[in-house]
Amino acid sequence: MEPLRDSWGREIRSVRVSVTDKCNFRCRYCMPAEGLEWLERDELLSFEEIERLVRVLASMGVDEVRLTGGEPLVRRDLPVLVRMLAGTPGVRDLSLTTNGVLLDRFAGPLVEAGLRRLNVSLDSLSHVRFAEITRRDALDRVLAGLEAAERHPELRPIKVNCVAIRGFTEEEVPALAELARRKPYVVRFIEFMPLDADQAWKGDDVLTGGEIRALIEERWPLEELPAKPSSTARRFRFADGAGEIGFVNPVSEPFCSTCDRIRLTADGQLRTCLFSRREWDLKSPLRDGSSDERLEELIRFAVAHKELKHKINDPGFVRASRSMSQIGG
Ligand code: 5AD
Ligand code: SF4
Repeated sequence: MEPLRDSWGREIRSVRVSVTDKCNFRCRYCMPAEGLEWLERDELLSFEEIERLVRVLASMGVDEVRLTGGEPLVRRDLPVLVRMLAGTPGVRDLSLTTNGVLLDRFAGPLVEAGLRRLNVSLDSLSHVRFAEITRRDALDRVLAGLEAAERHPELRPIKVNCVAIRGFTEEEVPALAELARRKPYVVRFIEFMPLDADQAWKGDDVLTGGEIRALIEERWPLEELPAKPSSTARRFRFADGAGEIGFVNPVSEPFCSTCDRIRLTADGQLRTCLFSRREWDLKSPLRDGSSDERLEELIRFAVAHKELKHKINDPGFVRASRSMSQIGG
């Protein structure tokens, strides 16, 4: 079948599927403290609907599926969906992004269902500062979740994602770098993007990957490793051989030109960019009896309109129409 390509020649190989807009954390860079309205139950795509869309996408060459939220593990029976997608023809790489708080309980069932890759968000190794950023006192449960994941050698690599915010993250860098050296986790620093529901993001709040790298190299020299062209992260290993670290630098080093991703929101809207101002409704056609061919046509049309790049650094930048937890990281 004809690959799925946008108008700028980029081939789409990866879909991030949000399974819920709900979350049991309230990270400051993502959600408001309170007052967010949840989607109604019947607005959420069912597992069968998600599987059907993934099957149609996979038939067009989308072979990488990442499950996100909100917090995906608050969606009931998530391992059932994992099993369905792990068995979908054409899905080569299935992974999950989680805040880790329920991982202790779910690592086993997820592996059993066919999950092989995991990203866990972790912004601080200090209890007080963890609670400050997530507005929940749950560091120990997240660390227990990571330990649970570690007990399953099928789940590799285990990536630990930290959103880097100026005035906060500098202090976390040494402990997180040590975590990467001590544990089989690839710790990755992600530049803070203007996707926070509070709309408090300012350009000055972005602590760049380059700055963090310099902080780490004061103590531990790093050596760059090769990365796939479509990769969002630059990879480094510690020169003494202990552990790997990564930098996802969407603001200081945009990687839009090699972007191969699209996103599906929990309520069945296709988004061609994190910063899209419009969405493409797939829920209605899924529910009105449209054929797979019709879905394919709609997806191709949406992808043909994929944005060239984000405009975070341009004057007059306009924020996305939803925040991160509603889009799906
Ligand atoms: N900027 C950068 N990354 C963010 N995430 C959430 N909000 C933001 C933001 N404003 C990331 C977190 C989490 C994933 C789901 O999305 O790292 O791991
Ligand atoms: Fe929840 Fe993830 Fe948003 Fe934190 S970043 S509030 S864990 S969805």
